[in-house]
Amino acid sequence: MPRSKIAGIGMYVPEKVVTNNELKQYMDTDDQWIQERTGIQERHYAHRTEETTTTMAVEAATIAIHRAGISAGDIDFIVFATLSPDYYFPGCGVLLQRAMKMKEIGALDVRNQCSGFLYALSVADQFIKTGMYKNILVVGSEKHSFGLDFTTRGRNISVIFGDGAGAVVLQATEKENCGILSTHLHSDGESAEILAMYNPGTHANHWADKNYAAFDEAEIGQMFMSHAMIDQAQNFPFMDGQSVFKKAVVKFPEVIMEALIKNGYNPSDINLLIPHQANLRISQFVQQKLKLRDDQVYNNIQHYGNTTAASVPIALCEAWQKGMIKEGDLVCLAAFGSGFTWASALLKW
Ligand code: UT7
Repeated sequence: MPRSKIAGIGMYVPEKVVTNNELKQYMDTDDQWIQERTGIQERHYAHRTEETTTTMAVEAATIAIHRAGISAGDIDFIVFATLSPDYYFPGCGVLLQRAMKMKEIGALDVRNQCSGFLYALSVADQFIKTGMYKNILVVGSEKHSFGLDFTTRGRNISVIFGDGAGAVVLQATEKENCGILSTHLHSDGESAEILAMYNPGTHANHWADKNYAAFDEAEIGQMFMSHAMIDQAQNFPFMDGQSVFKKAVVKFPEVIMEALIKNGYNPSDINLLIPHQANLRISQFVQQKLKLRDDQVYNNIQHYGNTTAASVPIALCEAWQKGMIKEGDLVCLAAFGSGFTWASALLKW
């Protein structure tokens, strides 16, 4: 049975850097609060008009494909993870296929927020293991800066997120004991509304006080995106940060241990853990819980903020570029976020 390995990796972050202090012009916040609670010092924001989730993905994908020593025409399938797509529909997968002038290959969009890249990687891994595809482009890309509440009302979320993209070419290999050893996916929808963007959507809970039966179809249609919705800031993400934090510090170690146990390893065997960059405090908690040394965990949230689906491939790419991952290393990827969904992947580089 073929296995899958990362044959090429790339990342892209927009040029514009926004420091914590710069956010003070929009909201009541301060550098000390942000750094103490999250570790974030700065983040990158996409160019307002010229950059989208897809264009950033193209930049990262181009590097990954080049490093894999293949061309865009060799890609058999695309799996694109994002929570900030260019359009409500169609998804970014087809936009990437068009922009990169790829063949009429399949393009799958994954909506698993912070765990999106790991879900995408796992899907791609299965396609390779079955022998269906040989080169799959797996992408995580986000343009958060366009959809955040930059008033004090939204400060608990807006200061956290940043823009960027990461991509890998997952390739079939016959080589033993290398590449993806296993992936582990989980969800618990009980807390779906704790970290979510409710609108636009078809749930219409915000009209719960109204009698639906009294409206005709045209009026209901208007409610998909209404003035009231915007007035009530329901078009921005909502997060109960403390509840997310409490669950994250339990599920991260759990899903990392699941991957290690499945493959007969201990935490001390990990050469590098790349946790989703949600909050430096969460990563530090996970590190302590698993008794990992500093050099076993890679964090870069300080400079990029939380880029959700892009955070794992960006961190993985940066660590690799710094020479921190060598052939034969045991690398663990893990993520937790909205849904809740959480996931891990264990790789031999
Ligand atoms: O990647 C997706 C998964 N997301 C996560 O894993 C996020 C997990 N949660 C967290 O990282 C933390 O909950 C946050 C960093 C988001 C917030 O930290 P916290 O310690 O949970 O703060 P809090 O929301 O409980 O707010 C504490 C105080 C509040 O003020 P009062 O009510 O105590 O007066 C907030 O209004 O901090 C205030 N606050 C801020 N102050 C300055 C909230 N945001 C800010 C801000 N600047 N940006």
